[in-house]
Amino acid sequence: MHGELEALEDGVRRLDAQALRSLQGEVATLHKLVDDLHELSLADVGALSYRKTDLDLRTLIDGTAGAFRERINGSGLALQLELPDQPLPAFGDERRLRQLFSNLLENSCRYTEAGGALRISARREGAHAVIDVQDSAPGVTPEQLPRLFERFFRAEASRSRRSGGAGLGLSICQRIVQAHEGRIEARPSPLGGLWLRVELPSHG
Ligand SMILES: Nc1ncnc2c1ncn2[C@@H]1O[C@H](COP(=O)(O)OP(=O)(O)OP(=O)(O)O)[C@@H](O)[C@H]1O
Ligand SMILES: [Mg+2]
Repeated sequence: MHGELEALEDGVRRLDAQALRSLQGEVATLHKLVDDLHELSLADVGALSYRKTDLDLRTLIDGTAGAFRERINGSGLALQLELPDQPLPAFGDERRLRQLFSNLLENSCRYTEAGGALRISARREGAHAVIDVQDSAPGVTPEQLPRLFERFFRAEASRSRRSGGAGLGLSICQRIVQAHEGRIEARPSPLGGLWLRVELPSHG
């Protein structure tokens, strides 16, 4: 952003619609970085407040997948959504849980080759709701799997380098899951990419 502004100041570049779009993009990236860092530091000192209510994970996941439908199509992915017939009750913070699933879907859109697949499934298993988000290639190496939840960790795939995130999304997901007394795990997916499993307590 600094470089772009300098080029504009020096008249090397013209301040046109394209330059503005590019700057808007840079500002959006910075904004997200600051928000994510802020959120993680609040979580570190235990100051992140969660407003939990009774909610239905089936509706929440369906809604989040719906919000991503265009993005998923745009990434050239075929979506398979497998939701239970019954509601999936949980006690949680709706906004944070949306953020959790949005981060996972965002990653699948960013880090899956076009022509691939994205499978989202949710079901009840005993006292837990189990939500699986799986995608096709590329995945990460077995050594990288346990490191995915570390702050600023990004796998070295050229695709992830190009698509400039900060490497904070999954750390935030882990925080959100922990605040709901749940678990999140990354594994290789039989679809060829990554498999993120989220388990949350489900009552009722
Ligand atoms: N579905 C996926 N398929 C393949 N690789 C993935 C997938 N999700 C995450 N990764 C890898 O894990 C890394 C960490 O993901 P994370 O969401 O924490 O950060 P990010 O997407 O790089 O940046 P941010 O989410 O902060 O914008 C990514 O850079 C990517 O290399
Ligand atoms: Mg991410």
